[in-house]
Amino acid sequence: MPEFDIDFTVNGRPVSRRIDPSLRLLDLLREGLALTGAKEGCGAGECGTCSVFIDGKLVKSCLMPAAKAQGASIETVEGLARPGELTPVQKAFHRTGASQCGYCIPGMVMAATSALRENPDAGLEELKERMGGNICRCTGYTKIIEAVEIARDVVAGKLPQTALDPEGVGASWIGHNTARLDAPSKVSGRLAYAGDMVMPGMLHMQVLRSPHAHARIVRIDTSEAEALPGVACVVTADDVPGEDGFGVFVHDQPVMARGKVRHVGEAVAAVAAESVRIAREALKLIRVEYEELPGLYDPEDALKPGAPVIHDYCPDNVVKHIPVRKGDIEAGFAAADVIIEDEFATQQVEHAYLEPEAGLAYVDHDDVVTVISPSQNITHHRHMLADILARPINKVRFIMSPVGGGFGGKEDMIYQGMLALAALKTHRPIRLIFTREESIACSAKRHPSRTRYRMGLTNDGRITAIEFSLLADGGAYGMSSEGVMRKAAILSCGPYEVDNLKVDTKVVYTNNTPSGAFRTFGGMQAQFATESMMDIAAERLGLDPFEIRRRNMMRAGSLTHTQQKLNSAAIDRVLDAAEASSGWEPGAPTVRGSTRGDLAGPGTRQPCTLGARFATAGADIETVKVAS
Ligand code: FES
Repeated sequence: MPEFDIDFTVNGRPVSRRIDPSLRLLDLLREGLALTGAKEGCGAGECGTCSVFIDGKLVKSCLMPAAKAQGASIETVEGLARPGELTPVQKAFHRTGASQCGYCIPGMVMAATSALRENPDAGLEELKERMGGNICRCTGYTKIIEAVEIARDVVAGKLPQTALDPEGVGASWIGHNTARLDAPSKVSGRLAYAGDMVMPGMLHMQVLRSPHAHARIVRIDTSEAEALPGVACVVTADDVPGEDGFGVFVHDQPVMARGKVRHVGEAVAAVAAESVRIAREALKLIRVEYEELPGLYDPEDALKPGAPVIHDYCPDNVVKHIPVRKGDIEAGFAAADVIIEDEFATQQVEHAYLEPEAGLAYVDHDDVVTVISPSQNITHHRHMLADILARPINKVRFIMSPVGGGFGGKEDMIYQGMLALAALKTHRPIRLIFTREESIACSAKRHPSRTRYRMGLTNDGRITAIEFSLLADGGAYGMSSEGVMRKAAILSCGPYEVDNLKVDTKVVYTNNTPSGAFRTFGGMQAQFATESMMDIAAERLGLDPFEIRRRNMMRAGSLTHTQQKLNSAAIDRVLDAAEASSGWEPGAPTVRGSTRGDLAGPGTRQPCTLGARFATAGADIETVKVAS
């Protein structure tokens, strides 16, 4: 369909534009009018980061065709506040600290404003209901809802205006809430994330990704794509001038697939073009011939003799094995009155930060290639990129843009190299923004794990020995796996004194999406198993779950599992506080296998388990034999 003209008002200003009929309202606002307060989080109407008012009604602009804005009055977050004066809702968000990464906050402010416009007296439950279409991944909802209630009460005259003021700092910063310096820019939509940034003459990148989990690349033909009008360049592994490998510990991941692909969604080629639409058209013109290879999808299979080899440098597929030994494990089990064995599994988890990966690269007047991105590890990225580009370190620069949620998932350099290569090839600025689907398909996840556990205890609940073997799925590339395994090993036996232990954590390559850093970094997988075992042991021995933990907990002077002496320990106070605040009733019957309080009927106590156990308590489990 041909382009056509539409007229509308935005924040009170009349606007006329010639638009493509397929254009979304979100793109018109962000790209056509530079109103980037409305963000794209999911592109599917689920997260609410793109919320705007159309004729006073809250809508998700990612779902609305721009053509439907004909004659409409549009209000964006940029239009809420007068210059230099935030609205009561925005001030209240600032006051309560309801703006952590901030990526969801403009949408939240719009939803809160809508809720109070619709019903200035809305109660707590109604506010929650009205704001239910917006997702926050890091602030959490408590501070956000608290802010809306404060704004409501100030506007109604039930609270003084000073209730909106950011908390001041007294004589000391310690022990006080401090106002976030960046809160005003977050609540007003002014803070620019990487995907909000533009430069004159900027190109747009799109990435061709592998449909195969494991395949040899026979040939790539980019000639048709390069000939498409509007395409500035196509980059592949052949364009990498230096040492093509990055990773937090082992540099095993090429900027784009080199010779073979190792997981579905791996980057194979990237197009730089005048628009996203042209770049996507060009991707369809790249011819890639693959020869499929047998794939590995289960970490147990990766260890079997004759298993497919994912990386030539690593014929046994083991990325890292961390063994920890302390005391005499056989003597420890011999001294036990009971021995409990079980197995636990944790699954892959997506970070789901609301800001998808995005970056902008350019070559400056001093021939310095510069990458702006929400990297959580920019110094390391800079050094790796210098090697990849075969450039001196002073010719490579990284600028960390605001991180719209990371949780460890933005520690890996999975797209910055492509941007730098294209910037160097074209000498024009270039920007890449992942779609939500691309982010989920290609970014590192929390390591799935299986843990086989054996614990010996005396009848009075003291641990005599622990044998702990964790096998993790590292996916196609090493990323942060080595560090995750180290942390899992160090934390394997929990905050408990264990004189005799045998711990093995091992991570292997498979053809699954790579695993990487995620909050707690291996600690979660280990603690899930250990704390579940403590509950099982308490039940087996007829002990209170808090009491068995107190009998084994580390104290000042204890040696950790890796032989560090603790000068102080606060676990006793943590347990006391947890017991007091949980409403725990010693002696009441336990509900097993769930953390859901609603499963516990009147007079029953809440289970202490961290989650449902994977296998039946006491099952006979064959211990995995691992090389030290
Ligand atoms: Fe809500 Fe980060 S502050 S997603």
